[in-house]
Amino acid sequence: MKALLLFLTFVHVLVGTVHCSLAPFIRPCYAEDRACLKSSAQAAVAVVAAGLPALGVERMDPMHLEHVSANQAGLIMEFNNTQVRGLRHCRVLDLQREGPRMSVELQCSVVLTGDYVLSGKLLIFRIQGSGRYKITIRDIVVKVSLETVERKKGRERYWSVVRWRHTAHVLTSVVYHFQNLFNGDEALARPVTQFANKNWRAIFTEVSPPIVSAIVDRIVHQTAHLFEKVPLTQLSLD
Ligand SMILES: *[C@@H]1O[C@H](CO)[C@@H](O)[C@H](O)[C@H]1NC(C)=O
Repeated sequence: MKALLLFLTFVHVLVGTVHCSLAPFIRPCYAEDRACLKSSAQAAVAVVAAGLPALGVERMDPMHLEHVSANQAGLIMEFNNTQVRGLRHCRVLDLQREGPRMSVELQCSVVLTGDYVLSGKLLIFRIQGSGRYKITIRDIVVKVSLETVERKKGRERYWSVVRWRHTAHVLTSVVYHFQNLFNGDEALARPVTQFANKNWRAIFTEVSPPIVSAIVDRIVHQTAHLFEKVPLTQLSLD
């Protein structure tokens, strides 16, 4: 009985390695087939964003960011317990692969909520406050460039992400809502909020890079987990 079980397990493992794809939601493409790359990536977005525990990929919609802080351009920022919603709906604008280099361009609309502390200078205004915050971003375009190396493990090869960088810009709008600015003094808070929402693009350049970086880092790390588990032959036809 034991021997039979062992044998069946063995057959199962063998068949599994031969036939079962770990990532059936990814259609492998040739590097030069950009249409295939783009549509394959698009199909994978919602699946990956939902999380893939078996591949070590955390759920990314919503994405939870415990703590993001920064001090730049005279503004001290702290964001805790941030929830990022909407990443599953990101559109893949482009995906390119050339040797060890990969770049992906995503267009996303997301809502961030959490706890904030702000103090210092917001462009021309002094700003100070702490409480709940909400930032609604419509159509941010993020381009992420990845550098990978191939790693061999057993008989398979895998991609390993060694470096990445990103750029981001917003096409449509950013709406800021910081509760309890200036300890709830509306007379002080209103003009600052109005100013921020009227000059959303300049403010975004000032305030957002640490949060956007944290989100991109998370996406890259989770994608790297997937690459560590899924052999290259299931991700690429080259
Ligand atoms: C974030 O959490 C840290 C550590 O718990 C705390 O010291 C800080 O005041 C919190 N900041 C915000 C914005 O809630």
